[in-house]
Amino acid sequence: MHFLKDRGFVHPASSEITPRAVYEQRRTMLAALAAGGSGLALAAWAGREAMAQTPRPNKLAALPGQRSAVAGAATMERPTAYADITTYNNFYEFGTDKADPARAAGTLKPRPWTVAVEGAVAKPRSFDLDELLKLAPMEERVYRLRCVEGWSMVIPWVGYSLSALIKRVEPTSDAKFVEFVTLADPKQMPALGSRVLSWPYVEGLRMDEAMNPLTLLAFGLYGEVLPNQNGAPLRLAVPWKYGFKSGKSIVKIRFTDKQPLTSWNRTAPEEYGFYSNVNPNVDHPRWSQAKERRIGEDGLFAKKRATQMFNGYEAQVASLYAGMDLKKFF
Ligand code: MTE
Repeated sequence: MHFLKDRGFVHPASSEITPRAVYEQRRTMLAALAAGGSGLALAAWAGREAMAQTPRPNKLAALPGQRSAVAGAATMERPTAYADITTYNNFYEFGTDKADPARAAGTLKPRPWTVAVEGAVAKPRSFDLDELLKLAPMEERVYRLRCVEGWSMVIPWVGYSLSALIKRVEPTSDAKFVEFVTLADPKQMPALGSRVLSWPYVEGLRMDEAMNPLTLLAFGLYGEVLPNQNGAPLRLAVPWKYGFKSGKSIVKIRFTDKQPLTSWNRTAPEEYGFYSNVNPNVDHPRWSQAKERRIGEDGLFAKKRATQMFNGYEAQVASLYAGMDLKKFF
């Protein structure tokens, strides 16, 4: 064993007493701290640590992202394991069971892929996936995802702010809302015959919500392209809203002057409003929203976590809703 002499103390080199992987993670963390000492750096370390802990035989194409400078873009919380993020999914086009998407989404073809951007914009046009991948620098954003059903995850996404794409098409003054339409192809999606929802899956945001830098157009997670079950090749990630606001496998983005009729709002208007901001004080009509179960922490004695207002992004987004009655606009 080697010893390092350091300010009079003698202690073993860390490489001697810790397993190699842990040692390397620690070096990554120290490098990250040296690079800025910020929470962003620490969260990036946490993401890599979680990734390192998950052995992954079938890696997808690499999609690295740089550290994001967007406020709130990197929670300090430990990311959920890749295996959990990619096997416990809601993607009703492939079935309603949590395991269905991972099992059945192999039929989804994420290439070639185009996204039509239209409506109240000066420059409506279609974007090819390769063009979208190059449109803005990819960033790593570690976001909490809170599902309306009462569970949550922490996901290290790769993508860029939706605002980068929006600016390209130059919205007109009529653009008050944005509608997101996702793929509905019965040849690729076996459960489209089911009547649980009206297809295609449609979601929407108010224009200022869509332009908020936290609203992410996600192309990857854990430094790789999105697995089909998580919404390949591109989906939305709106971290302060319940997960269903973040449509998967988007094919159309339309700017309108009217609030879009979303799939969930159409199916159960008394349960799923247009805003769907995470709010522990506004219960779902059939259950409380005060607490959540963090996926991966669900052992027999695991405590539920208290759900935070706007899912913990209050500092970044509360001003968007100043003066609004959040019980009425739920
Ligand atoms: N997008 C489409 N097209 N179809 C869906 O069924 N489910 C939503 C959302 N986006 C859904 C969707 C719901 S309810 C949640 S909680 C999140 O995706 C889940 O994302 P994840 O499976 O990547 O965690």
